[in-house]
Amino acid sequence: MEKRRKKTITITSGKGGVGKSSIVSNMAYVLGGMKESTYILDADLSLGNIDIMFGMTPQFNIKDLILGKKSIREIIVEGPCGIRVIPATSGIAEFSNLSLEERNILLSSFLELPEYDFLLVDTSAGISSNVVYFNAISEDICIVVTPDPASLTDSYAVIKVLHKNTGRKNFNIIVNMAKDEKEAVDVFKKITRVTDRFLDVYLDFYGYIPVDKNINIATRKQKLWVEQFPDTLATKALQKICDRMVA
Ligand SMILES: Nc1ncnc2c1ncn2[C@@H]1O[C@H](COP(=O)(O)OP(=O)(O)OP(=O)(O)O)[C@@H](O)[C@H]1O
Ligand SMILES: [Mg+2]
Repeated sequence: MEKRRKKTITITSGKGGVGKSSIVSNMAYVLGGMKESTYILDADLSLGNIDIMFGMTPQFNIKDLILGKKSIREIIVEGPCGIRVIPATSGIAEFSNLSLEERNILLSSFLELPEYDFLLVDTSAGISSNVVYFNAISEDICIVVTPDPASLTDSYAVIKVLHKNTGRKNFNIIVNMAKDEKEAVDVFKKITRVTDRFLDVYLDFYGYIPVDKNINIATRKQKLWVEQFPDTLATKALQKICDRMVA
C-alpha cells in the first residue's frame, strides 16, 4: 500500500461567514477526486454544518464519541469521492468549550483513524478555547479572510491569539470572496504589513477564491459547487489551491 501523507489542516477565521465550511467541503471533494484519502472533522462542535453542505443526515455525531457511546469509526459518514465526515452537533452548547478529558478522548480517537492523506478541520469563527485547541493539534493552519475590513482586523486578532497561545509562527492565508486576483493579493499584503510590524510570524499566500454567484446557487441546493459547476471561476481557483496542496 502506498504511504499516506497524514496531514492535518485546520481552516479557521476571525470573522464568521467568510466561507470556511464551504471551502472545506468543496476542497475535500476536489482532493477526493485526486485520489487523496480525505477526512473532514466538523470542529464547529456546537453549530456544525458540514453534514448540511453534503445533504447528509448523520445518525450519530461527535457528541456520541465524546460521551463514550460510539467509536470514531461508528460516527463517520461516507460522502462522495470517498470523503469521510466526522459530523458535529447542531445547537448543543455544552461542547463549545471542551474539557481536558473530552480533548483527550478526541485525541485518542483520532489516532484510531485509518491512514489518510488529509484531515481537514473546519472550526467555528473567532478565538474560543476549542478553536485554539484544534489549531494547536494540527500541522498546518489556514486562515480564511475576505476583503471586508472587519475580516482583515479579525484575522489579525486570530493570528495574534493563535501565535501567543500555541507558539506557532507559520500561517497560511486563503483570500475568499475577492473580486479578482489583484484584490486578493492586496488583502494578503495588507495583513502581512500589520503582522510584519507587530508579530513574529510568517504568512504564506495559499491562494484565493473569487466571489462567484454559482457558490450561492449550489449551497442553497445543498450541493457542492465544485461538483455542480466544474467550470466556474471559483472551482478553477480551488483546484489550483488543491494542486498546490498535493504537489
Ligand atoms: N467565494 C464565494 N462567493 C460567493 N459566495 C460565497 C463564497 N464563499 C462562500 N460563500 C457563501 O458565504 C456563505 C457563508 O459561507 P460558510 O458557511 O462556508 O462560511 P463559514 O466561514 O463557515 O461561516 P461560519 O463562521 O458561520 O461557520 C455561504 O452562503 C456561502 O455560500
Ligand atoms: Mg462554518
